[in-house]
Amino acid sequence: MSTAIYPGSFDPVTYGHVDVITRASRIFDHIIVAVLNNPSKSPLFTVEERVTMLREVTAHLPNVEIDSFSGLLIDYAREKNCHIAIRGLRAITDFDYELHFAQTNSTISRGDLETVFLTTDLAYAFLSSSTVREIASFHGDISMLVPKYVAKKLYRKYGYED
Ligand code: PNS
Repeated sequence: MSTAIYPGSFDPVTYGHVDVITRASRIFDHIIVAVLNNPSKSPLFTVEERVTMLREVTAHLPNVEIDSFSGLLIDYAREKNCHIAIRGLRAITDFDYELHFAQTNSTISRGDLETVFLTTDLAYAFLSSSTVREIASFHGDISMLVPKYVAKKLYRKYGYED
């Protein structure tokens, strides 16, 4: 069975992430979406909230599991007996960071964890969690950017009704 891990902050999950998860779920038998538990990054949502939102918006994908991890991705991957990480590429501007991420993980795992890149739909090329958080903080329209369930949680965080 082919398993791949899709790691990230997902603070919060956007339609861009859902697009990558959907594409990956068609290629691999089993996808583990792994939310990084890193309080030093001061995320808007707790790791539990991010996991809950991801479970809700991927409920229709039976081969997708949501989990969280702390520490190094290569250690988590080894624990899960998984050798593939997935990352989405939105635009050329992502490439520098992602190349560094892939080469670092391949090197420090001694070839045990390789990264597979999936390009995102052009419609989401500009989309990031930080952009969504900023728009939501001003009660802007985020209906094209995140699922309705996530939009509600975001507005509540910023003190808006809906
Ligand atoms: O959604 P993000 O913030 O771009 O995801 C980054 C993430 C979580 C994939 C990356 O920071 C990560 O894997 N962190 C765990 C620590 C680690 O393994 N670092 C070494 C590899 S660069």
